[in-house]
Order: sequence, then structure tokens, then C-alpha cells
Amino acid sequence: MPEGIGEDPLILVSNRGPLEHTRGDDGRTAKPGHGGLVTALGGLAGHLEDAVWVCAALSEEDVAVTREHDGAAFEPEGGGPGVLLRMVELDPEAQHKFYAIISNPLLWFVQHYLWDLGNTPDITRREVDAFDNGYVPVNARFADAVAEEVEARGGRATVMVQDYHLYLVPERVRDRCPDVFLHHFVHIPWPHPDAWRVLPPVMRRAVFNGVLGNDVVAFHSARYARNFLLGCQELLGLQVDMDRLTVEVEERSVHARHYPISVDADALESTAASPAVADHERRLGEKRREHLIVRVDRADPSKNILRGFRAFDTLLDDHPELAEQVTFLALVQPSREDVEEYVDYLEQVRRLVDDVNAKHGTADWQPIELSLEGDFDEVVAAYKLFDVLVVNPVSDGMNLVAKEAALVNQRDGVLALSENAGAHEELGEFAVTLHPFDIQQQADAIFAALTMDGSERRDRLAASAALVRENDVAKWLSDQLRDVNELRGPGH
Ligand code: F6P
Repeated sequence: MPEGIGEDPLILVSNRGPLEHTRGDDGRTAKPGHGGLVTALGGLAGHLEDAVWVCAALSEEDVAVTREHDGAAFEPEGGGPGVLLRMVELDPEAQHKFYAIISNPLLWFVQHYLWDLGNTPDITRREVDAFDNGYVPVNARFADAVAEEVEARGGRATVMVQDYHLYLVPERVRDRCPDVFLHHFVHIPWPHPDAWRVLPPVMRRAVFNGVLGNDVVAFHSARYARNFLLGCQELLGLQVDMDRLTVEVEERSVHARHYPISVDADALESTAASPAVADHERRLGEKRREHLIVRVDRADPSKNILRGFRAFDTLLDDHPELAEQVTFLALVQPSREDVEEYVDYLEQVRRLVDDVNAKHGTADWQPIELSLEGDFDEVVAAYKLFDVLVVNPVSDGMNLVAKEAALVNQRDGVLALSENAGAHEELGEFAVTLHPFDIQQQADAIFAALTMDGSERRDRLAASAALVRENDVAKWLSDQLRDVNELRGPGH
């Protein structure tokens, strides 16, 4: 259980919050918000006395709940995540510009190196307008809500901002509440300085200056923390110390830190032992061939699903002896369906699956089985049964799939892991490393994983599972809180 946060109240801030309200025939229901960030922070929120979570009202029913409370913080019915919730109602047009034009795809694509720079992006009036009339005002709304919560608590609080949607929040909160301690966790990669030059100077300066309003800027890996400091040096001309991992801003030091996020090992193991998962295991077991390759991803271009299937196609070309012996089960969850790039990507995935199946399939064997259900019990069953797990992102902040799967697999499965996934910093030595752009290398590495000697598979999986268990999400949280307490110092 993470240690507390001293005397100060805690204010968590994220776009997607811990609860999503919906209305059906039985009235209102509140279910946990999806995503690794929400799950991980839930562990923190539940152990604090005076905490409020500021998030966007995303569904129609979220808006209804927000209005019933006049926009103020409220205690969720049934206790929810164990904190007060303050939902921020946003102007729908501004929210669309903020989420579907600037956060995704513009910032997401910059930070995952996804732009095809000879062709995209075009920064036009549309993007400039979306920044000025979407990203900026939405961030201002969040910052004002946070500042009100801080002021209601006497002007002192620890504020923990999450992710790339809210880069402008810290600077504005600091202006209004100088005694606050600001901590920002960036859950996605922070790219090298030149990647930021895709954004016009006015936008990239706003991003960096906004983030530099923090006391601590935290990432999943050392590589991203260093990239952040290099960006401050190159793009803003600030003085940085690469040993202490600090950057000087006027009279303040801003600290870059890295804490690899992880999973709730006990909760996942209990899900893995549940009857619902056993049902899926039975179903998958009946269909399985000699070898089972699995991947689990949101349908996101950063996940590199297409190249993974092309590598599988190459594997089947190179090893005809694998025909009818191997299935690639791809559990893909549609994501960000209001963003054109994501809709196109999922369409390309479907088409490639059809092509590979038409080329290699037989009357009773489909080489790739694509499921878009997003059922977590099915995902956990697949984690238990894979022989090889393919995680080949172009770039990924952490990738919790690799950690979850290593913890519960029961077949001495091998992780085939991209060198550009944050998880590679911890699990790379036990995995077969994939180069995300090299199709032949991926095919050869997957073959090596499929044919790896039994005792080596066992040792590698055991070492990965032990590492995930030891460095679980409680450690991720307590390491951050320890540093917050230390850096705030007495009397802050
Ligand atoms: O990786 C960053 C992240 O915000 C995760 O926390 C989340 O699971 C994912 O992106 C999807 O985000 P959203 O559905 O809110 O766009």
C-alpha cells in the first residue's frame, strides 16, 4: 500500500476519469473508466483521506451528473474510487478540437514518431484553430477547476496531473496558486527534441512552458526523461543538468524523474483464476493448434499491428512446415473512433488479415484470428495460453500487456518485445527483442521464440514474472510519493 502524501491534500487531474456514467433501461450506472492510467491511479486514490479527482465529463450521463452537482466536487454513489470527483463539463466543439485534432492525432503522433513527414501532417488553419480554440481553453478550464479545489483547501496541495492532454495546466495553476506542489506524469514517450519541430514554434513553446510549471515531470523510462531535458535545452535554451536530471526555470529547479508503471499483480492473478476466464480458456483450448501466437492491443498506429502481421506472413512463407500448426490470435480493441487516422488504421488491419488468411489459409485453418470484442476475460485467457506474445510497437510509453501477460502465462510463453516499448528497459533481457520496422527480423525472432528450448523458455518467463510481481503498481506509486515528500521538503 503506498505511503501517504504528508499533510497536504491531493488533487489528481486527468482527461479520462475513474468513473464513466451511462444510462440504460435500469437507470444510471457508473462503471470504472478504462485504461491503464485510471487503473493504476485508482490504487492511490483509495488510500487517501482528502483527495479529489478532476476529470472531464465524457459521456452524456457524466454531463447530467456534473450538472446535478453544479460542477462542484461530489462523492460518487456507492463510494466509487474512494475520492471526491469533480467532473468538468466542456463545450462540445472545444472538446472535439482538444481531443480529436490536437491530443489525438497531433500530439500523440509527434510523441510516437508516427507522422510520415514527407506527406503529413499539414498544419493548417484547422490545426491552429483547434489549438487556440480547443486545446488552450480546455486546459484553462481544467486549470481553473484545479485552482478552485486548491483554494478551497487553503492554497496548499499536491497536484498530480496526468498525460499529454493537459500540458498547459501546470503553468496556469502555478500562476494562481504559488504554494502548490505540481507533479505531472507523462504516460507516453517523450521524443527527441527534433520530433517537436513538427509543431510550429508557438505551439511547442506553449507545451514546454506549460509542463515547466511543474516541480516534477515524470516518465516511464530514463530515455524519455533525458529527451525531455534535451528538449528544454535545445528548444528553449534552458540550462539542464543531465546527472541530477534537472532544468532551471527562472528561480526554480524542475526535476525529471522516471518510474516504470506496472500492474496490480494480486488483482490480475485473481482474475486469471476466475470461472469466466476458465470458460474462455476452454474455448481457446478446443481450437488451438500446435502453437499459439497472441497480441493484445488498442487499434492504434503506434502499436504496429500491420507490420506484425506482415512479419507473420513472412514467417509462413519461410516455414511452410508451420502451415496449419500455428494460429495468430489478435485481440484488438477499437480505439478513438472519432479520429480519422484511427478509423483508417483499423480498416487497413482488417484488410491485411483477410489478405494473409486468403494467401495461407486452408479449408479448416485461418492463420490469423482477429477479435474486436475487447473482453478482458478473453484477454486474460489468451495471456495464460500463448506460446509467443507479440508486442512490436513503433513506440510505446510502457506497454502493460507485456507485464500482464508475463505474470499469468502458464505455457512458458516467450515475450517478443519491441526495443521501443518502455517495458523493454525492464523485460528486454528476458524477451526476444523485435526491431519494429524490420519485418524479416520480426519473422525470424518469432520463429526463434516458437522453437526455443523448453528450459530457456521456463527460465525467461519465471524471471519476467518475478520482476513484474516485485515492481508492481504499488511500488510505482510509493516511489513517486517518496520523491514528492522529499522534494517538497519541510514547510512546503
Ligand atoms: O497511454 C496513454 C493513455 O492515456 C492510456 O492511459 C489509455 O489507456 C490510452 O492512452 C487510451 O486513451 P483514451 O481512450 O483516453 O484516448
